[in-house]
Amino acid sequence: MPDTAKFRIASRLALTTVILMFGLIIIGSIVRTTGSGLACPDWPLCQGRLIPPLQFNVLIEWFHRLVALLVSLMLFVTVVWVLAHAPLRARLGGLAGLAIVLLLAQILLGALTVWKLLDPGVVGGHLGVALLLFSTMLTLALAAAQQAESGRSSCGRGPPACSRSSRSPRSWRTGSACSAAWWRRATRASRAATGPPATANGSRRSGDWWVSRWRTAGSPTVSRCC
Ligand code: HEM
Repeated sequence: MPDTAKFRIASRLALTTVILMFGLIIIGSIVRTTGSGLACPDWPLCQGRLIPPLQFNVLIEWFHRLVALLVSLMLFVTVVWVLAHAPLRARLGGLAGLAIVLLLAQILLGALTVWKLLDPGVVGGHLGVALLLFSTMLTLALAAAQQAESGRSSCGRGPPACSRSSRSPRSWRTGSACSAAWWRRATRASRAATGPPATANGSRRSGDWWVSRWRTAGSPTVSRCC
């Protein structure tokens, strides 16, 4: 699978998590404003049961927990997807790591909210970490989408399937996936546009120019895309 597709999947997974988390934050505020925070006085069960009695406040708090579980699973899948693929790990691994740490902190704060009987400091922390987590996942979704888009828009111009692992000019030259036809076309077009630089006596130092083109082709900015 090309790297662009991997980035696109990461972006969609993260965006789905962000949308679900947006809903969860609204449900959290409903829990608070309806005074349902202690309708389930225990955790992880609710009134000692997996499925609690069907009462208004209990259902609101229980639904918050249920959606939190769904969000946690989606976030976990997103993080695993990012960490399992080297190009994604290299660019998004920090955000994915931060997201998983914040999620664990948030679940702990959720439990403490109940165990500490809605201590204002804990509830404030729960809200603060929710916002941090939301921002982190949104950044991850946007960064992944941007990577997918930049890869897509330059892949027509770059060699197919050149990833970060094939950055060096040597691997470009020998890698089966990197097309020699593309290389010839790209350098011919680029040369036509700029041409080799003239020396002081007016002659063309095309040997130097080719070397510099070769180096540029191996640079991360050019080879990053495909
Ligand atoms: C990704 C996970 C979670 C997110 C993003 C989240 C988010 C929120 C938000 C934004 C609020 C409203 C806070 C406020 O208005 O001050 C809230 C309230 C609450 N959350 Fe969570 N939550 C999560 C997981 C959990 C978990 C696992 C529990 C477990 C018990 C929990 C228990 C509560 C309780 C009891 C309240 C009501 C606090 C009150 O009434 O003062 N949350 N949550």
